[in-house]
Amino acid sequence: MSPRKIIIDCDPGTDDAIALFLALASPELDVRKVTAVGGNVGLEHTLRNARALVSLTGRDVPVVGGADRPMLGSFIPEPRVHGQNGVGGVMLPDGKPAAPGIAADAIRDMLRAAAPGEITLVGVGPATNLGLALATEPALLDRIAEIVLMTGAWAEGNVTPDAEFNAWNDPEALAVVLACGRPVTLATLETTAQALATPSWMAGLSGGGACLQAAKAIMASVPPSRRLGARGTPQHDACAIMWLVAPHLFTTRPVHAAMDLGPGPGRGRTVIDRWERVAGPRNAQVLETVDAAGFFALLAERLATLP
Ligand code: BDR
Ligand code: CA
Repeated sequence: MSPRKIIIDCDPGTDDAIALFLALASPELDVRKVTAVGGNVGLEHTLRNARALVSLTGRDVPVVGGADRPMLGSFIPEPRVHGQNGVGGVMLPDGKPAAPGIAADAIRDMLRAAAPGEITLVGVGPATNLGLALATEPALLDRIAEIVLMTGAWAEGNVTPDAEFNAWNDPEALAVVLACGRPVTLATLETTAQALATPSWMAGLSGGGACLQAAKAIMASVPPSRRLGARGTPQHDACAIMWLVAPHLFTTRPVHAAMDLGPGPGRGRTVIDRWERVAGPRNAQVLETVDAAGFFALLAERLATLP
């Protein structure tokens, strides 16, 4: 099978870094563009990090900057998990300059040039760039094979009691993406909680080159998740990529997914109906379980192939 053509929209981001490395190390994927959005840290850092991470892999994939704010308001960063520079204070060599243009245009340009169902969109940050691209030229929707997002939660959030970080940082954009009519797959907090990089797994990583060393330093910078019993650090964003690389590691369930866009305490909550309780269409599927042993074995193998 020919590799799947994907665009990755990200806000690197400690776990975004690992997701980018996994994607760029995986022959199942043909990464055509990387677009950056603000989120974990400001766009000036996420764009720099995306450029640096792609260049470290030696791959010639264009990196394009995008939104520095959500559709409404401002991004609220998370320096406790990502450090001030977005990669836990790890100093990466500067990468190739950003490609000209802005992410939403770059996404639309790629869709415009594509055949129906040719491009898979992956979003592992706030959905702003994706939402802007889809809302402004819906005629391009048929070019999209699938949209895979790390976002949301069907139970508890990680920023507010209800909301997950990416969803909370641009609920309006995520509402656009969820309602776009193309197949959407969600790696939610429930899935990513099963993909915990433990200190012993990290200690066992060997081989590889500068990318693996950077990955180890970046992962080591992240404090173990208190929410998850301090057993390790969830590889949220790599779950979205791994779904495309090794879908057999996951179980899925069709759902209805919508956003809480209200101004109240539930704002940013992904309202996910796994049990057909609401009448709406099954507009998404959630990744429900992941085989963590298989996930981390393959992640280690792929990281070790990078320069
Ligand atoms: C998501 O939020 C960010 O902090 C991570 O990079 C991930 O995309 C997890 O809630
Ligand atoms: Ca992210």
